[in-house]
Amino acid sequence: MNFLDHLIARFDRSLFAAALLLSTLVTTVFGLTPTPSATEGPFYPFNSGQRLDTRALAKAGNDLTLVAGKTKRASGTRFLLSGTLVNTSGTAIAGAKIEIWEADNNGVYYYEGPGGPPNDFADIDPNFQHYGSTITDSSGAWSFRTIKPGKYEGRVRHFHYKVKIGGTTILTSQFVFEEDRNSFADDMVADELVREGTIDLAVLNPIPGVDPEDNAAALIASKQIVVDYTISAKAVVPSIAMHPSHR
Ligand SMILES: [Fe+2]
Repeated sequence: MNFLDHLIARFDRSLFAAALLLSTLVTTVFGLTPTPSATEGPFYPFNSGQRLDTRALAKAGNDLTLVAGKTKRASGTRFLLSGTLVNTSGTAIAGAKIEIWEADNNGVYYYEGPGGPPNDFADIDPNFQHYGSTITDSSGAWSFRTIKPGKYEGRVRHFHYKVKIGGTTILTSQFVFEEDRNSFADDMVADELVREGTIDLAVLNPIPGVDPEDNAAALIASKQIVVDYTISAKAVVPSIAMHPSHR
């Protein structure tokens, strides 16, 4: 490396350090940008139009690849989705409920009812638990074992999720995928977030890895969820476990 390269490298490092300091200062003074909300869509399993039995689903844990009473895991690409829940000050939120729901590998939701585009329940993967929930631990961490969401007509692949604190919904949103960025303009949800300038807070960019549970190949993605929420003194007791829902 010649003198000029050294100088440029040092300049780059200084610039990087300055940018990091500035971003820390901005976070401290102005707070983190809240994760944008996005439509719940027509297939939230507990909405008022649902005709299917959701009693078992309501008790579902954070492993969507294994349905209660079954031994065969869901079809599709294994996906380990995790993250943290913080408020705009960057403080971890413990004891919050994170719910996810998604289309199975055939592009079908656990849903029969009116509203929205047709969801062909006849094609459902019986080994996929289409909804799961978990509780954030003391560091705000949450995680799910699931599959990469199936593709269905008119949308890019996506996870739906909700954040609930003390039974109140704080955020309803969606995660989409970096690999579909070129299609965001044609997707009603992603396009809105692009226009708002908040799309990157909703984009997952998974890396290939292995699920330690059974050494299956898996995509792994992590995302921070930021909510505009003031933590009160009476925190909920946190607990988190990665376990099949049939226990
Ligand atoms: Fe959807």
